[in-house]
Amino acid sequence: MLWVAGLALGLQAVLAEIPVSFDHDGVILWTRVTPRTVNETAASYEVTWTVYSGDDLSTVVQTGVANTSAERDFTVKVDVSGLESGPQYAFRFQVAHIVSDVGTFRLPVPPGQRLERLKFFLYSCANWGFGYFNAYDVGSRYNLDFWVHLGDYFYEYGVDNYPSPSQAVRYEPAPLGLQPAHEILSLSDYRRRHALYRMDRGLQALSASAPLIALWDDHEFVNNVYTDGAENHDPEDGPFPQRKMNAAQAWHEWMPIRDTPSNFYAINRTLQFGDLATMFVLEDRVTARTNSGQNEPEGNPNDIPDVDSVVAGIVGSVPPSEWGQNVTDQLLELKNALDTRRTGANETMLGAAQEAVLARDTDAASRPGLNQTVWQQYLGGLVMLDRGSPDLEGAVAAVRRQGDSATADLWQEALDNLTTGTPGATYTSYSPTPYNLGNLTKSFPVSTSAQKTARANVALGRYKLQYYMDSWMGYIADRNRFLAAIANATNPVVYGGDTHNYWGGYIYSVDPQGYFGLNKTTPIDGPPAALEFDVGSVTSTGSEGSAVVPLEMINEAFKASSPGLLIADVRFKGGMYVELTQTNQHVEYIYVDTIATENYEAFCGMAYDAPARSDPSTELVIKPGSCGPVPEARPYQQALVLSEEARIVSGNGTNTPAPAAATAG
Ligand SMILES: *[C@@H]1O[C@H](CO)[C@@H](O)[C@H](O)[C@H]1NC(C)=O
Ligand SMILES: *[C@@H]1O[C@H](CO)[C@@H](O)[C@H](O)[C@H]1NC(C)=O
Ligand SMILES: *[C@@H]1O[C@H](CO)[C@@H](O)[C@H](O)[C@H]1NC(C)=O
Ligand SMILES: *[C@@H]1O[C@H](CO)[C@@H](O)[C@H](O)[C@H]1NC(C)=O
Ligand SMILES: *[C@@H]1O[C@H](CO)[C@@H](O)[C@H](O)[C@H]1NC(C)=O
Ligand SMILES: *[C@@H]1O[C@H](CO)[C@@H](O)[C@H](O)[C@H]1NC(C)=O
Ligand SMILES: *[C@@H]1O[C@H](CO)[C@@H](O)[C@H](O)[C@H]1NC(C)=O
Ligand SMILES: *[C@@H]1O[C@H](CO)[C@@H](O)[C@H](O)[C@H]1NC(C)=O
Ligand SMILES: *[C@@H]1O[C@H](CO)[C@@H](O)[C@H](O)[C@H]1NC(C)=O
Repeated sequence: MLWVAGLALGLQAVLAEIPVSFDHDGVILWTRVTPRTVNETAASYEVTWTVYSGDDLSTVVQTGVANTSAERDFTVKVDVSGLESGPQYAFRFQVAHIVSDVGTFRLPVPPGQRLERLKFFLYSCANWGFGYFNAYDVGSRYNLDFWVHLGDYFYEYGVDNYPSPSQAVRYEPAPLGLQPAHEILSLSDYRRRHALYRMDRGLQALSASAPLIALWDDHEFVNNVYTDGAENHDPEDGPFPQRKMNAAQAWHEWMPIRDTPSNFYAINRTLQFGDLATMFVLEDRVTARTNSGQNEPEGNPNDIPDVDSVVAGIVGSVPPSEWGQNVTDQLLELKNALDTRRTGANETMLGAAQEAVLARDTDAASRPGLNQTVWQQYLGGLVMLDRGSPDLEGAVAAVRRQGDSATADLWQEALDNLTTGTPGATYTSYSPTPYNLGNLTKSFPVSTSAQKTARANVALGRYKLQYYMDSWMGYIADRNRFLAAIANATNPVVYGGDTHNYWGGYIYSVDPQGYFGLNKTTPIDGPPAALEFDVGSVTSTGSEGSAVVPLEMINEAFKASSPGLLIADVRFKGGMYVELTQTNQHVEYIYVDTIATENYEAFCGMAYDAPARSDPSTELVIKPGSCGPVPEARPYQQALVLSEEARIVSGNGTNTPAPAAATAG
């Protein structure tokens, strides 16, 4: 079993990756050499690495020398074997007189051996400009076995796009402003963007504290990427295959994954942790994915209609109370076209070859033998459970059914104000994101455009119009193929990210012909096929970013539209803590109170438990659980935070010295 640990030079951050194979004595240690002055620049460097037992750096277990040069952007990966499973190790790097920060790791026990417990964090969607990565810092306090990044570790945009300059918390000047400032295209661009992100203090603390299991989503390449193109790749950006290769090369240089001849794009892998868990890392972006048609340039034959604006065109000037047969007919016609496309058998996310490997390894994990485990966990970038367009009217009805008529009346009034066109009506902004704090709970007169958007939203929810095709919602037949492949799993759990908000619930295998029909009275076919827990974003803005109804109403509206969705929370940024045992999966939704500064408070917002079942004949269940305390920052961990100058890197393969130290926080 292989792990990767990672630090930087001065030495930039340490990182370790985790088991990328079944030889359980291995770890990948990672760092990057970045000179701080012109005197330290060189064409290549000899880097000494040392692994210590325990964490006090007194007992050397192994040491060696690695070389690095411009060819690999001065990054270093060392594949260390011959270590024991279980005990704590520390490691660090040295170049000349410069010593890196200290990283720690422990190795999981091999397949077949009893493993009582695993503790890990999940993360997704960190955008530099939107704020500080405090969510990563929280994870560094937990003494984790590892952490998982489900993708969107960075974003490819230039400085003026997502976030816009007025939205940005970290904008200018260099070096803490976006680097490079333009949309990234070349190998050098992708390297520099990795280098910038690795400067974040919270990310460095987490990277040093425990190994990482990394996968990618779209933004490690470009928005809404699929096998041979992407929404945000225009002809003037150059040949797509070259950009895809640049992105993957930089990712392999900067991420602590063990590189093999075949995993340049196929980063899917199966990792086993004793007899407790099998982790399936999925590749659902660049090896088999077809074009969902989401936001394609107009005129592209694969394009699907821009659902939001088409619906706004149909209903935008008519209040919901006056929608007649004609409006209904047009909406149902659109719905039919969308559902036909997204249930098409030819739309693939994972592909047959990957599904065959998943079937084989899931089956082995679910039968007596060396590879049997209690938990089978599928790590993908995307939400897999059914998540429809939020049904705002359904939210009002739901709280009314629960007996809370005061809230129902208030939400109905908010909806009426937005949609009916009553003169003088107002709405309230609920966006809690840093750039919108000034607007939080501020009232505004309802504008024509707000009214149009709100009417479209009512229609999307009422007629179950799916607008988010760049997710499993656009690949329903492939989702069923995936569920068939893992049908023998004892305790299947899917983790997703991507949406920037928190979800959880049950995934159902569905009949694509019947499921989406408005006439269907029972929306669910059979018992749940798998459980799912989805982590919100580290910083990227989600459904909350432009909210004009209370955030609790948005949560209810998603639950009202989506039968398997038990958990919905669009209020916070953060990570997700998971503690697995032989009998239970305990999940905590860990939030931070701000991303606008590096001073933050963390808290557990919700907790759930899923008892392990002994065979697939019992139904899978998620129950409310209790939050544990969020640990205090550990003094040992604080010592891991790098000096300011060591955080600065350029990362574009030329290894110019780091710019003058910036002040942060
Ligand atoms: C990853 O998926 C490919 C198909 O895309 C498959 O051929 C390969 O065996 C898988 N790799 C691993 C390590 O499971
Ligand atoms: C799948 O088939 C539909 C209907 O024929 C078509 O519109 C779509 O472009 C096809 N998708 C792929 C990936 O071939
Ligand atoms: C609805 O009315 C519009 C304008 O009156 C017309 O162009 C359209 O064909 C009608 N649509 C349907 C589905 O009846
Ligand atoms: C267990 O997994 C390993 C690694 O994939 C594989 O080589 C071996 O054949 C598997 N054993 C069984 C019984 O499935
Ligand atoms: C609806 O608009 C009225 C003004 O017409 C305002 O007093 C009221 O607070 C608004 N209600 C909500 C829930 O925003
Ligand atoms: C506050 O809301 C108004 C109206 O929606 C919007 O135009 C403005 O950009 C918002 N201000 C900020 C700082 O987001
Ligand atoms: C599940 O187990 C059954 C019974 O042993 C077997 O026939 C089937 O092939 C397995 N399915 C998969 C997807 O591995
Ligand atoms: C759905 O119900 C409507 C009205 O009850 C009916 O006209 C229509 O034929 C039904 N559609 C299907 C696919 O059963
Ligand atoms: C690399 O970055 C440095 C510092 O930002 C810059 O001076 C240099 O021109 C860059 N080189 C390339 C090839 O982009």
